[in-house]
Amino acid sequence: MKHFLDVSDYSSSEIQDILDLAIKLKREYFAGGNKPFFKGKVLALIFQKPSLRTRVSFDMAMRHMGGDALYLSPAEIGLGKRESIADVSRVLSGYVQGMMARVFEHHHVLELAKWSSVPVINGLSDFSHPCQAMADAQTIIEKFGSMKGLNVTYVGDGNNVAVSLMHISVMLGANFTIANPEGFDMPQAAQDTGVSLAKASGAKITYLRDPHEAVTGAHVIYTDTWTSMGQEEESSRREEVFPPYQVNANLVNEADKDVIVMHCLPAHRNHELTDDVADGTHSVIFPQAHNRLHAQKAILARLFEVA
Ligand code: CP
Ligand code: NVA
Repeated sequence: MKHFLDVSDYSSSEIQDILDLAIKLKREYFAGGNKPFFKGKVLALIFQKPSLRTRVSFDMAMRHMGGDALYLSPAEIGLGKRESIADVSRVLSGYVQGMMARVFEHHHVLELAKWSSVPVINGLSDFSHPCQAMADAQTIIEKFGSMKGLNVTYVGDGNNVAVSLMHISVMLGANFTIANPEGFDMPQAAQDTGVSLAKASGAKITYLRDPHEAVTGAHVIYTDTWTSMGQEEESSRREEVFPPYQVNANLVNEADKDVIVMHCLPAHRNHELTDDVADGTHSVIFPQAHNRLHAQKAILARLFEVA
């Protein structure tokens, strides 16, 4: 029984296989529609936090392929509050064929998976955002053909999105650099996993404080919000610390001439990413968001063992 909790739970060839399938399903979708491989299947969408992309792309992924999705809001389920996670998981396992969960604490999605008899997908936790990383890798591969030998630079907070991007980058042979302020490093556990993944692929990981040094030679510049969901009370302190890490035209001009600029969205425009860059020629933020649909179809197909 396989779940999709972190990209690092899979081998690089398994990740590559899912990405190949994502690109194939995308092609088929635009050539007239996907086959109904998910017929008779329902995916429960459990959310402890808000969402646009994750919610809609999973729902549409299921519908495009003949299945259905059921949105369950924070108030409805009260995960771990109204009812224990173990009980929620065992009850839902009898009703649906898969669960996607967006949680505050990473161990909550692990707990759901532990008790579930159907596949569980991590739709973002405080530690990682593996579905985002799959769409990110798909977007980079579509642009450059492969991730091997590319320089992927993340500028900003060492958060959930940065962790999954680092892991998938080095798994697929890209060098990963992060520039973040002191006190906002990635969790040590994520760094340790990165070291072993990079050792296996021969990719390099570099931790810097200076965003200018970090973007030199970058083929990808990636940023994300300075204040993630659940950190709202730290927002004013973060707004003071992070402005030197803004991705703006000056910073982008210091990278490779063909650099692409990425953001998982939602963007806080003119905070971590300026309008001119977000809407400029290097930006791929909307194709990247759209790839959530295709990457997740492929993840679901592998978990359901169809397609
Ligand atoms: N990027 C992303 O996960 O967006 P949502 O929070 O809108 O799902
Ligand atoms: N790091 C952000 C990503 C949102 C998709 C957050 O966790 O809020």
